[in-house]
Amino acid sequence: MVFFCGSKMALLKSVLSLSALLFLFLSSAQAVEVSHDGRAIIIDGKRRVLLSGSIHYPRSTAEMWPDLIRKAKEGGLDVIETYVFWDVHEPVRRQYDFTGNLDLIRFLKTVQDAGLYAVLRIGPYVCAEWNYGGFPVWLHNLPGVKLRTANDVFMNEMKNFTSLIVNMAKQESLFASQGGPIILAQIENEYGNVMSTYGDAGKAYVDWCANMAVSQDIGVPWIMCQQSDAPQPIINTCNGWYCDQFTPNNPDSPKMWTENWTGWFKSWGGLNPHRTAEDLAFSVARFFQTGGTFQNYYMYHGGTNFGRTAGGPYITTSYDYDAPLDEYGNLNQPKWGHLKELHDVLHSVEGTLTNGNITNDDLGNSVYSTVYTTPEQSTCFLGNTNSTSDATFVFKGKQFTVPAWSVSILPDCQKEVYNTAKVNAQTSVMMKEPNKAESQPGSLSWTWRPEIVDDQVVLGKGHVAAHRLVDQKDAADGASDYLWYMTSVNLKDDDPIWSDNMTLRVNCTGQILHVYINGQYLGSQWALYGTFNYVFEKNVKLNPGNNLISLLSVTVGLQNYGPMFDLVQNGIPGPVEIEGRKGDEKVIKDLSGHLWSYKVGLHGIDHKFFGTDPASASNWQSKDLPTNRSLTWYKTTFKVPLGTDPVAVDLQGLGKGEAWINGKSIGRYWPSYDASQDGCSADPCDYRGSYDNNKCVTNCGRPTQRWYHVPRSFLDEDVNTLVLFEEFGGNPSLVNFQTVTVGSVCADAYEKKTLELACQGRPISAVKFASFGDPQGACGSFSKGSCEGSNDAATVLQNACVGKESCSIDVSENTFGSTTCGSSVTKRLAVEVTC
Ligand code: GAL
Repeated sequence: MVFFCGSKMALLKSVLSLSALLFLFLSSAQAVEVSHDGRAIIIDGKRRVLLSGSIHYPRSTAEMWPDLIRKAKEGGLDVIETYVFWDVHEPVRRQYDFTGNLDLIRFLKTVQDAGLYAVLRIGPYVCAEWNYGGFPVWLHNLPGVKLRTANDVFMNEMKNFTSLIVNMAKQESLFASQGGPIILAQIENEYGNVMSTYGDAGKAYVDWCANMAVSQDIGVPWIMCQQSDAPQPIINTCNGWYCDQFTPNNPDSPKMWTENWTGWFKSWGGLNPHRTAEDLAFSVARFFQTGGTFQNYYMYHGGTNFGRTAGGPYITTSYDYDAPLDEYGNLNQPKWGHLKELHDVLHSVEGTLTNGNITNDDLGNSVYSTVYTTPEQSTCFLGNTNSTSDATFVFKGKQFTVPAWSVSILPDCQKEVYNTAKVNAQTSVMMKEPNKAESQPGSLSWTWRPEIVDDQVVLGKGHVAAHRLVDQKDAADGASDYLWYMTSVNLKDDDPIWSDNMTLRVNCTGQILHVYINGQYLGSQWALYGTFNYVFEKNVKLNPGNNLISLLSVTVGLQNYGPMFDLVQNGIPGPVEIEGRKGDEKVIKDLSGHLWSYKVGLHGIDHKFFGTDPASASNWQSKDLPTNRSLTWYKTTFKVPLGTDPVAVDLQGLGKGEAWINGKSIGRYWPSYDASQDGCSADPCDYRGSYDNNKCVTNCGRPTQRWYHVPRSFLDEDVNTLVLFEEFGGNPSLVNFQTVTVGSVCADAYEKKTLELACQGRPISAVKFASFGDPQGACGSFSKGSCEGSNDAATVLQNACVGKESCSIDVSENTFGSTTCGSSVTKRLAVEVTC
């Protein structure tokens, strides 16, 4: 099956003038094919081992893209994968936005300029821990619509958006068939996981998706992930932490992995997930041992959920994902470096892997060998999938030891060049430094203003009214996290409910509720992660006569995953009740069917309190700065931190809300929500055995997210403004700006390797520890072992590295002198340097 713009090529060939030749040279169409033996993706006749990484353009800024993509390329990637995010591109039906960090075309061109390929996952349902899975909420509110099924209203919108994206890319000649970088495109996302819920209509929808996609005529193959019945010619691909056991549904299809989860996302109240470099490399090596051709890291750079883009419920603003490039774009070492080495080895045997004859052998005790043979070369993989026992065995006449849960790669079947459990790359220990801008005072000075200015809101005047409680999505249409539900209740003192002991009870689906009675704050409640319905219940003082009940319901990211996820309720489904007690008797007044008035959003957002224009500058006061006051706006100015290191703001002391820098939202914040106490361990992480996101976690009992990324491009040269909208009440006095940088670097490299050390653009300033032999301990607590090289390792390192931005060390007795370790010890170099 060839996906190639044949007619275009023929036309070009027929006019082979000098200029046409030049055109061909500059942007020649590339044929992307699938080999009939299902063994490989073929680009321009070459069978490929393709290594790819997800970078989502709106989770960073356009200014960051070139650097992120360069680091991806240096890390050995061939391809960048991204979803397309419908809700931010079409926030209002038929009104589009492709500006700033939403400039998809610029992103794809940046990928192209770096000489990389792209995979365009149009979806347009994407999941991705993105608000509402990437669907605009207006879609849900279209009359007669049913999402992700055979429904004409939905299919019409989906086709409209898909065609828009395809045509934009075509117009810029971005498909490989036109000489562009896009080698594959994706339609839908993991629909196979939820399809059964939709019955026969689900299958009809998948078939429609396939036809609709193919009819777009993009000249490169389409994929669907986790869709075991993907209709031909769509290629079914795998997502997961491991995909070695995956087989596509069509024997012709190559074995492709669209999402190798490099870690996991984080939720408010959840722990920091970590997936080790060893385990990630193991999964990749096993995939290529078992016939894979394309593997993508989800995420390679996770980034930041700016604004209200975080999905949910309860996805944090940081989408770091423990990815090879961290949230700020720094190398996450040793992950980045350990994978780079693996990529280099895999690329070096590309021809053998994709053309060779395959011989698999089960060597017992969960150890497997695979030999790829071509007339020119044989390449061997030795995979030990046992999670506890290292394996020592003779293979092709030589003895090998393969640690538990690891794969050794022998490009020539003789010598182990890479083992997934042996990490030679440096570990970077990141640190945060205070803002060193000249004349930046130690603490910031703040002004404030209340959210509730006149009593208009709490007095019950909204935009629309209804005699029922409505779903927050229906009323807010995605325009805000905030929706006021307001009603009045008239009580006579002879009302059967009237008593001194009355309770207000509100049944909520989430995720946060702030309650005001007659304009006075009564209390707040929020759902704990995972239990998104709860009952607010509090004693309430009501007056004889009219009483105003104003409930501010707050969503923290709309559901992004699951069967019919779009129908999950939000807001206050009710009942809303007042209960009166007289002795043993209880009387309940149900307010659910009252006339409710609704107001979407906040006064301060309507009036752009977060903005930089003069209109938003007035009415801020510096006197009587309140702390622990609910629904309060705070504002301060600060100097841009010196240097070029990424910037973070420490929001310790605040409760929950949203933060803006110079009018741009850096996302929701919630530092007062501590991560759960349980699940962390003081022992080093034993990654062996299948990973899941509860393994190797950190941050127990600490704020789920204390630091928030402030992209440098959001900052002005001189004075900058930070505005916070605080919901629960907090104290901004501890807020401060910091830069994120490498503090120290460690390594524990094996003999016969070259160790590269770098402080990310800064000079290495001192050697804290160095020993070649059998050093003990881990980064930060290394100690010398029982044998050492005869040359002083610290002096060798001092001479080679101190004062330099990077250095390379040949880890061998040549460099460090002979040892008395004996031949049974594999010697290592342990190093710790400060930056
Ligand atoms: C997958 C999904 C991705 C992302 C991932 C978890 O199921 O396709 O979009 O949500 O899970 O990070």
